[in-house]
Amino acid sequence: MRGIILAGGSGTRLRPLTSVHSKQLLPVYDKPMIYYPLSVLMHTGIREILLISGPEHVDTYRSLLGDGSRLGIHLRYAVQEEPRGIAEALVLGGSFTRGEPVCLILGDNIFYGHRLPELLRREAGHLDGCTLFGYPVSDPERYGVATVDDTGTIVGLTEKPARPASNLAVTGLYMYDGTATERAAALAPSDRGELEITDLNLGYVREGRARLVNLGRGSAWFDTGTHDSLLEAAMFVQVLEKRQGIRISCLEEIAYRMGYVDKERLALLGKELSASSGYGRYVMELAAT
Ligand code: G1P
Repeated sequence: MRGIILAGGSGTRLRPLTSVHSKQLLPVYDKPMIYYPLSVLMHTGIREILLISGPEHVDTYRSLLGDGSRLGIHLRYAVQEEPRGIAEALVLGGSFTRGEPVCLILGDNIFYGHRLPELLRREAGHLDGCTLFGYPVSDPERYGVATVDDTGTIVGLTEKPARPASNLAVTGLYMYDGTATERAAALAPSDRGELEITDLNLGYVREGRARLVNLGRGSAWFDTGTHDSLLEAAMFVQVLEKRQGIRISCLEEIAYRMGYVDKERLALLGKELSASSGYGRYVMELAAT
């Protein structure tokens, strides 16, 4: 399975924070936002990853993350000229995925859960059609909303419904079979001129091949779409990390635990980050244990 991170959009709702910066590079406590979705793909065992961003920001991502070789992964970059919808990422990534199954994640979605890596690897292993990940929220009208039968098959899916049929928001994490690119390319743009991810998903729903996995209790999901949710995500990360003395979504640690880099490389990565940074010290201490 290949991975695509979409770090596009104009971040209008977060201005002036996003007047010159890419939204997905904003800090979420101790690391840039993009680390979180990238950590999800790495935890799923995906090493071939395409990052898509706007023309004015793509080089900043490239200087932050490079070709991924330092972390034992392969990162490539593509440009989305205009924010033309989430589903366009699959079209832009067509020559990258080349008909292989793909996991698409939005660059502004933050997931955390002790059992999440295991769950994602399991889902990637028995994908048929598409698998979406749901999260119960108190404000479902802000999201895509799904209804499922008792086997987990999605029977209804609506984008930002005025009267939500359930409280299950569809998160920005999607797994698709090898037909996703051609399906996305065949979509007609919506009234707002975008290729809508919900339209793509509805194609699978109509075929009875869309599954929803409820992340539910014991996990956290933040979409960081507003000033408040951005701060809440940062505070969540701070509380968890300070209380437990760990760092979550630490790419260097994941690369080490996944066996992509050895201790020597880990020590080097920590040194590059500098001992004057708490994050850097964490990586160095991990290498020294
Ligand atoms: C997008 C999707 C929506 C999904 C959400 C998750 O909405 O269209 O279905 O629930 O991401 O973050 P947007 O954030 O672009 O409004």
